[in-house]
Amino acid sequence: NVVHVLNGPNLNLLGIREPDIYGATTLAALEARLSATCRNRGVTLNFRQSNNEGDLVNWVQDAGLAGEPVILNAGAYTHTSIALHDAIKGARARVIEVHLSNVHARERFRRHSFIAPVAEGVILGFGALSYDLALEAILAGGTDSES
Ligand code: DQA
Repeated sequence: NVVHVLNGPNLNLLGIREPDIYGATTLAALEARLSATCRNRGVTLNFRQSNNEGDLVNWVQDAGLAGEPVILNAGAYTHTSIALHDAIKGARARVIEVHLSNVHARERFRRHSFIAPVAEGVILGFGALSYDLALEAILAGGTDSES
């Protein structure tokens, strides 16, 4: 059983990047925590980050075609990427959209998501904890497309 956590642009800067908005937890620390949860619950974590849209498209496709669930923080591509929308749909990927910040309480351009209409659910505004909550949702609901 595999769970994918896919991170988009600028999330490699977590901890340095606008900590008042995104918190002090680094991406490495977040990966370590999620990895421990997965180990305890008998699932394998595939945790990745890329600043390139095409990498995210490829990873979403691979996970979807393998029937493995995805926790996706697409960063700013959330608000722009029809390609990611199409990849989720096309590969029938089971996706939980996550955001550290409450995007609805910020600039207007962050209110629209191309991911949300093709996501199973959305968790946002809880900082790095948003990821843990998404992982709990996946672990509670099974880890493959059959459940
Ligand atoms: C974000 C919110 C996006 O609007 C922003 O572009 C990010 C991070 C979040 O996790 O809060 O890069 O996805």
